[in-house]
Amino acid sequence: MAKIRKAVIPAAGLGSRMYPLTRAQPKEMLPILDKPVIHHVVDEILSAGIDQILVIVGKGKESIINYFDYNELDLKFNSMPDFPEIFFVRQREQKGLADAVKYAKKFVNDEPFMVLAGDTIYGSNKEKTIAQQIIDVFNRKSSTVIGLEKVPIEKVKHYGIVNGDEIEKGLHLIKNMVEKPEISEAPSNLAITAAYALQPDIFAFIDKIKPGKNNEYQLTDALNLMCKEQDVFGIEIDGKRYDIGSKEFWVETFIEFARKDERFSYIFKNPDNL
Ligand code: G1P
Repeated sequence: MAKIRKAVIPAAGLGSRMYPLTRAQPKEMLPILDKPVIHHVVDEILSAGIDQILVIVGKGKESIINYFDYNELDLKFNSMPDFPEIFFVRQREQKGLADAVKYAKKFVNDEPFMVLAGDTIYGSNKEKTIAQQIIDVFNRKSSTVIGLEKVPIEKVKHYGIVNGDEIEKGLHLIKNMVEKPEISEAPSNLAITAAYALQPDIFAFIDKIKPGKNNEYQLTDALNLMCKEQDVFGIEIDGKRYDIGSKEFWVETFIEFARKDERFSYIFKNPDNL
């Protein structure tokens, strides 16, 4: 069975929920402590032993490309140890996540691959990172695997929502998926976390879908077709997902990371600082 060696980071979204922060800076470049969000995403990918990365950018995202240039200060600060090869492609129009992923077809070249959103980072409760947890299931099942997280029911309208059979604790064989449903239409409260290990057949299903929610090509719709024809699993991630797509989450995430990091946690220990 083919091993996952490649990862795709869609980073072409407009960042409208972060406005005006994103007027001149991509949301993927917002800092979480001393690294931009996308650097944390790359670290997550590297943790899974993946060494080829494609970033899908769009209009106004040039600083992401610049960030990965060689910089002689890297040696001094050891800021980019063992960085892999990173490729870039531009999504020409904002037509949704499935359309963005389609730009990865040549890079993927018929191999299985991971997709990790450029605006979402993870903290694991286990020794294994979230990317490793997903790849473990992929290696065991040789099928597409989606990272899942239970969300409060009032939040289902923000996410792709799945339902299926729980075949082992936290492991679901998915039967159905809906992108950002209203509460009344949500088949469960199991949300897609923006981390996927995909079989390359996904491109054939992307070719079959029509514009869906918000008139965009939705990856959830392609996966929904896929799960009717082949096994698609969902694994409840053992850890936490930090969605940097809104201001509140960005601020919360920054503070949570600072509290946990010994370089910055002193700030919270001295009440005079708060
Ligand atoms: C995307 C996916 C959605 C998923 C979400 C996770 O939505 O379409 O299914 O639940 O990522 O963050 P977006 O956040 O790009 O609107």
